[in-house]
Amino acid sequence: MRRPCRQTAHATLAPGVSFRIPQGRMHSEPKSTQVIYPARRILGSLDLPGDKSISHRYAILAALAEGKSEIEHFSSSRDCQSTLNCLHALGVPWSREGDRVAIEGVGLGGLRAAILSGRAPPVRLDAENSGTTMRLLAGVLSGQPFDSAIVGDASLSRRPMGRVIEPLAQMGASIRAREGNFAPLEIFGRPLHPIRYALPIASAQVKSAILLAGLFCDGETVVEEPVPTRDHLEIAWQQFGGKIQRRGGTIAVAGRARLLGRKLSCPADLSSAIFFVVAGLLLPDTNLVLHNVGLNPTRTAVLDFLAQMGAAVRIMTLGEENGELAGDLHVSAGPIMRGGVIEGKMVPAMIDELPALAVLGTAAEQGIEIRDAQELRVKESDRIALLASNLRRMGASVEERPDGLKVPGKQRLRGAEIDPQGDHRLAMAFAVAALAADGPTTILGSECADVSFPGFYESLEKVVERG
Ligand code: S3P
Repeated sequence: MRRPCRQTAHATLAPGVSFRIPQGRMHSEPKSTQVIYPARRILGSLDLPGDKSISHRYAILAALAEGKSEIEHFSSSRDCQSTLNCLHALGVPWSREGDRVAIEGVGLGGLRAAILSGRAPPVRLDAENSGTTMRLLAGVLSGQPFDSAIVGDASLSRRPMGRVIEPLAQMGASIRAREGNFAPLEIFGRPLHPIRYALPIASAQVKSAILLAGLFCDGETVVEEPVPTRDHLEIAWQQFGGKIQRRGGTIAVAGRARLLGRKLSCPADLSSAIFFVVAGLLLPDTNLVLHNVGLNPTRTAVLDFLAQMGAAVRIMTLGEENGELAGDLHVSAGPIMRGGVIEGKMVPAMIDELPALAVLGTAAEQGIEIRDAQELRVKESDRIALLASNLRRMGASVEERPDGLKVPGKQRLRGAEIDPQGDHRLAMAFAVAALAADGPTTILGSECADVSFPGFYESLEKVVERG
């Protein structure tokens, strides 16, 4: 018998945070709970939402381009909606019908044109829960002939922004942040100059912020990466007609590029697909197909790792659209897999997949160990601490370390009450863990999954077999 997930209303108090600039809406306050029952297997096929990282970048470049862009299969995530809302506040016209977004580019000099002519209220942008929105837009806004402020929700207001403020300040930007490191950001627009910057941490968001700021400089801006991070901005840059040079770990862009609007399509998000892949691997007799998933080589380290574990995940088709690789994934077989260690440059290459992999570790023969991943502590939550505490609630033994986790294998999970504290990837990772647990699991504040994947629980139910 199929037992559906149950959703219930549930009241909470808003955490009080007050800064001089009013805070954004705290959409991560828990509102609903989801009860997930154990499952027998995963069977079927799914279309998943468009890639979040690609959608943010297409939206921002389309706004700065000349002419109209049309983006198919744009991410349905709240995060990407936050980017669109900020662009609206900056005077960029767009319209949306389902997952198709049309953006009227205003050109490099056109942001806030309507506002500057006195027809609209002063600009105050709300990035809500989205680090990508805040960091990438900080790059765009630094070189504008107007001032702006970006706020975020409680979670985003705790995440470090010094990593973008520092290089942007080297370019001449003036950004005021709480304690020099946290949102709200007040950005006093001024002329920028190009820099050559070696990233101290591997971050695609920081790289992208600097390259976007480089658009508003005369001359060449150069970023050097310690290890490769997702290169969606670089690919999209060329799609919009911008020139970009890439040699080894060095990326160089010419300022004042003329970008032209165009038609694009986003593949499905591999970082969302991974929850279904892990669900399939946790249960025996899985037979699951995920359609047109993004397979950009800077994102597929997770698939290499799964192959190394002996997991049966296959790429069935491979194609290219708008410079991005994509294909159908097939997941089969059952829960007997080796295990492994994730460390060094593997970490930034699969940073968003680590919560799902930590859950998978409980079922692997030798478990999964995650090292060098201190970055997980400054994501939407402290993911190391919350993975450890919630896995323990499910009866697993876990070793929490400053830079990661050791999850021993062959552990049976039991249903529990899980508090992801508003972190979408934790809510989804534990919803998947619940399928392989004994007894029902309750996910508190389950609606936070909307941050990257509205409809996640419904999609999961579509492919779950019980009884
Ligand atoms: C992202 C980069 C990564 C990732 C985030 C999305 C992006 O963050 O964790 O979910 O779109 O650039 P960092 O750049 O902080 O590593």
